[in-house]
Amino acid sequence: MPSYDSEFKSVLSKVRSHERWFSESLPMIASENLASEPVRRVLSSDLGHRYAEGWPGERVYAGCRYIDQIELQAIALGKKLFRAEHIDVRPVSGVVANLAVYAACTNPGDTMMALSIPNGGHISHGKKDFGGSAGAVHGLEVSYFAFDKEAMNIDVDETKKRIAALPSLKLAMFGCSLFLFPHPIKELEQAIHDKGGVICYDAAHVAGLVAGGQFQDPLREGAQVMTFSTHKVLFGPQGGAIASNAELAEPLKKAVFPGMTSNHHLNNVAAKAMVFAEFLQFGHRYAKDVVANAQTLAGRLAELGEKVLGEKNGYTKSHQVVLDITRYSDGGAIEKLLEDQNVICNREPIPGDLQAGRHYTNPGGIRLGVAELTRLGMGRSEMKEIAGIVRLALGGTKKREVTLRIKELRKGFQKVKYSFRDSPAYSFG
Ligand SMILES: Cc1ncc(COP(=O)(O)O)c(C=O)c1O
Repeated sequence: MPSYDSEFKSVLSKVRSHERWFSESLPMIASENLASEPVRRVLSSDLGHRYAEGWPGERVYAGCRYIDQIELQAIALGKKLFRAEHIDVRPVSGVVANLAVYAACTNPGDTMMALSIPNGGHISHGKKDFGGSAGAVHGLEVSYFAFDKEAMNIDVDETKKRIAALPSLKLAMFGCSLFLFPHPIKELEQAIHDKGGVICYDAAHVAGLVAGGQFQDPLREGAQVMTFSTHKVLFGPQGGAIASNAELAEPLKKAVFPGMTSNHHLNNVAAKAMVFAEFLQFGHRYAKDVVANAQTLAGRLAELGEKVLGEKNGYTKSHQVVLDITRYSDGGAIEKLLEDQNVICNREPIPGDLQAGRHYTNPGGIRLGVAELTRLGMGRSEMKEIAGIVRLALGGTKKREVTLRIKELRKGFQKVKYSFRDSPAYSFG
């Protein structure tokens, strides 16, 4: 019998190497963040071994005494945080939350409106032709919001014309992945309701800004339901959730279970409850700091000569900064060039890519997120330093200087802030 002990240990050693690398890097993937140490500890608790299908109090498994209490607490805290009549913390990811909304609000063959991917949309809102979840998994026809590239936002007048021309519209999906400015929900609410459509807002990226009172407040602006990931600006465990008005609660509950989940990762439910509590306490200040940091980074990059999208409206009101890097190369090559210098960010499709013959593997942009850097305690002066580092890294000839400057900068930022007690950011060892 061969021994796999060395394989076992080698995985642990790779995890340690990963953490060491990230502790000396600039983690700027806009969909990532850091959970505090108590939240991480709960993720590795016994709850992660258990089953609890269904709603608290209506389980089909025994052993749920404390699990039910925890899930009810998560629901109560989530309702308070998002001022929602209904919250479901069971979806295991943002995509699963979106699929549950499709199942609750539409039938296969219905039409949904969303943003196209080069204009910021997400694969889970996508058409069947390219395997997007809305089309390929739920059989929806997807029609696109019109987009104003200068404003980097939905074009209200053109979209109203498109809605009027549709034979029917069952669902309008606001929210997206390249997300710089609040979406015009109020402005389009009447046109969507005139066609009988439900309004959903995908806050996967911006739920933390919504909870912190920045960006926009979808449930008060006309959205009947809001889906989100719990690990982007909202600094929790990887997972999803749904917030909605009371009217949609029952169909959404059914769509989540038995529709989209069997067991729902109970360690994550506890971690979600703890993060909602952290956010109720610290979220307002954190979200404000995130937006201020993104605006500082964008402004400084523009001053240094980078082409920052969204100039007309001040570059960004979210945690994201998007650069058009077509004068250097393509997004795939730049992502790799930056990674080699410990700047971790991702390539990003941008408006105009399709017309220019660019594909999602080699798009025209890169997206920089500041949520994680903010959680590490960085502020405006660090953002200015980071703008200089990114500029230097894009040149591609000063790798040693770039990596040394990052290492020096990171010396003072190794703890998770905006929590009940500062804790190590990379604690695995
Ligand atoms: C707009 C949007 N919706 C949904 C998702 C999917 O979220 P998850 O990775 O939690 O499934 C993402 C992921 O980045 C996203 O950007």
